Amino acid sequence: LAAGPLQGKRIIVTSGPTHEPIDPVRYIANRSSGAQGTAIAAALRALGAEVVFVTGPADVPPPDGVEVVRVETAAQMRDAVMAAHPADAAVFAAAVADWKVVGASQSKIKKQSGALPVLEFEENPDILAEVSKMGDARPALVVGFAAETDDVVAHATAKRARKGCDWIVANDVSPSTGIMGGSENAVTLITDAGAEAWPRMGKDAVARQLAARIADALV
Ligand code: C5P
Repeated sequence: LAAGPLQGKRIIVTSGPTHEPIDPVRYIANRSSGAQGTAIAAALRALGAEVVFVTGPADVPPPDGVEVVRVETAAQMRDAVMAAHPADAAVFAAAVADWKVVGASQSKIKKQSGALPVLEFEENPDILAEVSKMGDARPALVVGFAAETDDVVAHATAKRARKGCDWIVANDVSPSTGIMGGSENAVTLITDAGAEAWPRMGKDAVARQLAARIADALV
């Protein structure tokens, strides 16, 4: 592993969307590209961390030098994250689907004239909240993300308290910002010291700045 301030630190990073099956050929998904999570994993690795990169089906390839665990569903992501402990820090950049389809069909649902399928949903496990409340085995630093379209700081501050994580990286994903799927990000870092707005910059630069802050926090 590269020398650096995070040498000897094990960090879990989740990234990408999850896919929730309807049947073997259809699924529910979201527009996460995995770009920000991938950049964060690369930046942590560049500072010497041992990174476990738990990724859903993303548009971008995983970075070099990290342990890649590929998953499809939120339930699989949760199990992979739990299996990756103990860790010094965990960064939850994945856009986990909030719901899964109840009783996904084991065979392809046939198109029938005059009959439309009805999907029933149930909540997925909240991985960030679960890890934040792990007790003795909890990583020393737990970082969540909040993608919001309005009242970004208020909603993200409430989310930080509700989930029990240490930091929230909040971003405005209103369609007019072009952030979702784009190469830039404008984030506000929420810690117990308050809200810190960072200037708009490339996702790689956000990742490097966040990795440097994580290194400061873990020493
Ligand atoms: O509740 P919301 O989805 O807005 O929370 C976003 C944060 O929680 C992100 O860090 C995301 O990775 C994490 N999360 C999770 N498991 C879920 C839902 C969200 O880890 N089921």
